[in-house]
Amino acid sequence: MKKTVVIGVTSSIATYKSVQLVSDLIKKGYDVEVIMSKNATNFIQPLTFSSLTKHKTYVETFDREVDYDVEHISLAKKADVFMIAPATANVIAKVAHGLADDMLTTTFLASTCPKIIAPAMNTKMYTNPITQDNMKTCKSYGMSFVEPKTGLLACGDEGLGKLADIDTMIDAIDMALQEKKPLEGKRVLISAGPTVEAIDPVRFISNHSSGKMGYAIAKAARNLGAHVTLISGPVNLKQLNGVNTVNVKSAQDMAFHMKAHFPDCDYIVMAAAVADFTPEHVADEKIKKMDNQNTINLKKTEDILAYLGKQKTNQKICGFAMETQNVLENAKRKFEEKNCDLLVVNDLKVEGAGFQGDTNKVTLIKKDGNKELELMSKDELAYKILEELQKV
Ligand SMILES: Cc1cc2nc3c(=O)[nH]c(=O)nc-3n(C[C@H](O)[C@H](O)[C@H](O)COP(=O)(O)O)c2cc1C
Repeated sequence: MKKTVVIGVTSSIATYKSVQLVSDLIKKGYDVEVIMSKNATNFIQPLTFSSLTKHKTYVETFDREVDYDVEHISLAKKADVFMIAPATANVIAKVAHGLADDMLTTTFLASTCPKIIAPAMNTKMYTNPITQDNMKTCKSYGMSFVEPKTGLLACGDEGLGKLADIDTMIDAIDMALQEKKPLEGKRVLISAGPTVEAIDPVRFISNHSSGKMGYAIAKAARNLGAHVTLISGPVNLKQLNGVNTVNVKSAQDMAFHMKAHFPDCDYIVMAAAVADFTPEHVADEKIKKMDNQNTINLKKTEDILAYLGKQKTNQKICGFAMETQNVLENAKRKFEEKNCDLLVVNDLKVEGAGFQGDTNKVTLIKKDGNKELELMSKDELAYKILEELQKV
């Protein structure tokens, strides 16, 4: 059955962004109900949300023209998660103190599901100790917050108070709805992205890894209740909430941080595309062009997966392999040589598999045989990998 997400919309210049939020949640397969504050209707018409959700958009508590159910109570019961986005300073003050003077705040007070607040306001309003105290009070009652961003605000000021990104808000909703938390109390260490090996102050050697697979695994592990540490090479992805992220550049940096976190971990997923070679010397100054005479001598980098495989005691290790020929034989050899518990192998030549895209097509190599998986999104695959890793 579809999960119901109730979105409370209040009156901010960011109100228009809640339309995209509602639309994206519906595309993700959620049943979405919207309740607006009366002031929010100055910014957007309820019809906009009704057209998207195929439900009535609620504004007034005493509007009884449509049906005679006690709407705030039935909506509160139906809600699996309730998010107020954008949340004004006013609504935060109200919900912190149990005020229930309109449909939105009445339903919010009557709801027992997880409650999330995504504030949007001028920096001075946000940093005002009264707002900060109200937020602390909300947190003490178990409500969670999607923190606003820093940036140029509609009022022309620059500072903290911009509504969080849509993806971050959806992430928070997904996380709140995750019922099973099999990784609760477990520590998961994940590497992601490429490494960058400097040649001189200007040039480097790297690869096409986007980091999407590693980030998807970090997000899934976090949603399943784990304490997640992500060692990330340089990527173009948003920082994940609730994930301890360490940003690194070179294979050497990555090895250092993986080794440092490894002893305390239960599960390790090496999804990063670590450079196998690095320049023997990094030039202090930009290397000058010399026709046909520039040669860069390379040396091998440390094999992090092999090191972790040798050192492991109770940890379960998942490696990744990207092959272009003799895919399964090469992967099987890597699985054994590196002492992995699970190896995810993708064939760069298969459509939908590999580096930059949002999907992947992989085979899982385990002691008891191979398991070929269908083409699926990296988000979905992340859960499958973690499920297998807990079984091996
Ligand atoms: C153009 C405009 C933009 C506003 N933007 C915000 C905002 O981003 N955050 C906020 O807390 N209040 C903002 N306000 C003030 C709120 O609309 C006002 O406090 C209102 O009473 C809140 O009502 P509500 O919480 O019931 O929607 C804005 C007001 C106007 C006129």
